[in-house]
Amino acid sequence: TKIGLLFGGCSGEHEVSINSAKAIASALAQGDNLYHYEVIPVYIAKNGIWYAGDIAHNILKTKQPLEVETNQSRWQFPPLVSEIEVWFPILHGPNGEDGTVQGLLQLMQVPYVGSGVLGSAMGIDKIAMKTAFAEAGLPQVKYMAVTRPQIWSNPCVFPKLCDEIEATLDYPCFVKPANLGSSVGIAKVRNRQELETALDNAASYDRRIIVEAGVVAREVECAVLGNDDPKASVVGEISFNSDFYDYETKYTEGLAQLHIPAQIPDAIAAKIQAMSLQAFAAVDAAGLARVDFFYIEATGEVLINEINTLPGFTATSMYPQMWAATNVPFPELVNRLIQFAIE
Ligand code: DAL
Ligand code: MG
Repeated sequence: TKIGLLFGGCSGEHEVSINSAKAIASALAQGDNLYHYEVIPVYIAKNGIWYAGDIAHNILKTKQPLEVETNQSRWQFPPLVSEIEVWFPILHGPNGEDGTVQGLLQLMQVPYVGSGVLGSAMGIDKIAMKTAFAEAGLPQVKYMAVTRPQIWSNPCVFPKLCDEIEATLDYPCFVKPANLGSSVGIAKVRNRQELETALDNAASYDRRIIVEAGVVAREVECAVLGNDDPKASVVGEISFNSDFYDYETKYTEGLAQLHIPAQIPDAIAAKIQAMSLQAFAAVDAAGLARVDFFYIEATGEVLINEINTLPGFTATSMYPQMWAATNVPFPELVNRLIQFAIE
């Protein structure tokens, strides 16, 4: 079977995607004799142009993004694309994890790994996913949805908006562009001035912005695998010394520690697994997702933070590691994902 490994992409998580793809390509190469997969890497440069063949292979090998002109936009499919039998999109963030690529693959009528258009779109947008979680009765931190026009277009609205955020959420709170991943554009704010700056900055990334109350909690995650009868992995925990789990902490070696399985009571782990499956269903996810939570030890409360429908997939990422700890080693995990795409 020819697997189109689609990676790179027009998003702030381009480099993360290259790393994820490299790990998956190695796993597929290992599993080759067993599963008879042939990997065709297809790279999406930062300007949106697709490349297959030597260029794509070389980017996987060197992990160096292709230098491109951003204004070049003559988009076309590399000829190899027509041979692909199953797609494995491992694009993180906008233009890849958000339903855009899934819509294209759907139109091509070729099966692909992961969520469809709706699940991807719901899973990328923090406001849409929270609405779905609330509907499913999942507890979450207090938040407010804000749009760019409330921040930029009307100078009278902005101070009132800030008053309302202060009254509803208090400090510290987190300002997040609704549609980015890996904590890109996120700020933790402690006073009015930081709030105003963070809202303005977030509005430069996204039309939709979410402001969330800060909680003192442990950060725990759970991996989901499957389609109509999905399974949840053991629970993992992340600890770090930085102020919050930002991009640098996520991707600089040694700044965050993963603990798998998390040292938490069995009943809490079971609750997190059940909530993960509910969240998966709430946004209509498929194939895979990593669900992130806050665990407030003092009260035993578990609050859902978010779902990621194309989670980081490097050899050291939480998603594959949680499955490895649940007796699904990396190559087998990749194999099952492809099988779930076909079924
Ligand atoms: N957005 C990053 C890749 C993650 O969720 O792991
Ligand atoms: Mg996310």
